[in-house]
Amino acid sequence: MNKKKSSFSGQLGFVLAAAGSAVGVGNLWRFPYLAAKDGGGLFLVIYLALVLTFGFTLLASDIAIGRRTKESAIGAYIQMSPKWKFLGVLTFLVPVLIMTYYAVIGGWVTKYAVVYLTGQTAAAAQDNYFTSFITSPVSPVLFALLFMGVTAFIVYNGVEGGIERVSRCMMPILLVLVVVIAGYSLTLHHVDESGQMRTGMDGLLYYITPHFEGLTFSRFLQILLDAMSQLFFSLSVSMGIMITYGSYVKPEVNLNKAVNQIEIFDTGVALLAGAMIIPAVFVFSGTDGMSAGPSLMFISLPKVFAAMGKAGTFVGLLFFVTTIFATLTSCISVLESITANCMEIFHTGRKKTVLVLTVIYLAASAVIALGYSIFYVEVKLPNGSVGQLLDIMDYISNSVMMPFIALLSAFLIGWIKTPDYVIEEMESTGDTFRRKKLYRVMIRYVAPVMMFVLFLQSTGIL
Ligand code: PHE
Repeated sequence: MNKKKSSFSGQLGFVLAAAGSAVGVGNLWRFPYLAAKDGGGLFLVIYLALVLTFGFTLLASDIAIGRRTKESAIGAYIQMSPKWKFLGVLTFLVPVLIMTYYAVIGGWVTKYAVVYLTGQTAAAAQDNYFTSFITSPVSPVLFALLFMGVTAFIVYNGVEGGIERVSRCMMPILLVLVVVIAGYSLTLHHVDESGQMRTGMDGLLYYITPHFEGLTFSRFLQILLDAMSQLFFSLSVSMGIMITYGSYVKPEVNLNKAVNQIEIFDTGVALLAGAMIIPAVFVFSGTDGMSAGPSLMFISLPKVFAAMGKAGTFVGLLFFVTTIFATLTSCISVLESITANCMEIFHTGRKKTVLVLTVIYLAASAVIALGYSIFYVEVKLPNGSVGQLLDIMDYISNSVMMPFIALLSAFLIGWIKTPDYVIEEMESTGDTFRRKKLYRVMIRYVAPVMMFVLFLQSTGIL
């Protein structure tokens, strides 16, 4: 196969693009919601411990495999071992599935940015606003197509001229916005009907204090598994995306530093997102508002913005612009990974490949967006929840395929290629891979066991 010509300009460009992929709705919405649900500081400590051990192992593996093979998932696995081509194909299928619905979520986020831009703060806070939006057969489709179109345009412009350029501009702004909104959240205070005053600082304490009440072994296991699946999703590992991005990294870049920086960026934004959302929800709705789960972003937060008074429209706008940046840079990484694999398989050029994929995914996004109206279905998933088209795609890709792929990859690297395959690449610039011992133990023993348990749990077998 021909070697890739595209590359990131250097370490910073790569780190910002990879952080762009990693930082997404998972950080801004899922992380705060899980932290509130899973015992505040307790979840934070478990998550941080996992980032430093497990997260780093998976991230370093993906990126090192990418740079070493200079191929995307399918080509990379073939190069590692032709017999393991099936794992490359499976890995490639994860972004193929995610792409069908990611632009739909991007469309929802864009819609809400427009809502705040046009000052419809009170309307958005109404109970049925979100439901009536997603069940409409027109508006969610248009927003999804718009988001898909913008994503395709950026990927069409290439690795350095498209992806890197957009990430260099959006990621620093995103970081500043998250810090500003979190700072504002901490200054909030509100007196409820019973005359009780709650402040943003109380909310912060609620967020970072470990809550041990009612902690049993099975609940602890549940928190551990929640943290693990969150980490997976958040770092964009085991879906071939970091392999593709790794294949664009120049040989002189120090991968140790890059991996650390990506982890710090991703975890930092997740922690800040918690500091931005939990105190705000706490001030206006107490701890009840936090169990909102998936509806936190589109139902609970709009109520919080409305309760903020005049400032709410502006804060709401800033929040959804931040979320657009996070979602867009993730969405481009999904499309780039599919594009890169297709270019390698079919030996086609970038522009033609992107154009064909755009047509396919405009259609797919429209179908998924209509999954709440014309194509409405109710399917009971093995984990007990009932889902529509979007949830089905999400369930197959994130809950079933990703842990399975991570399990087999850890086995392939740990036992067939041996951990040195990755370690050599991490040290190819002459720098030492400091967590080498930890890496060996994690990839050979800990990761396979943890992935197996996660797989059993998320498929409802456990
Ligand atoms: N890592 C992203 C997040 O935290 C999600 C994502 C999933 C990105 C799949 C790319 C692909 O939200």
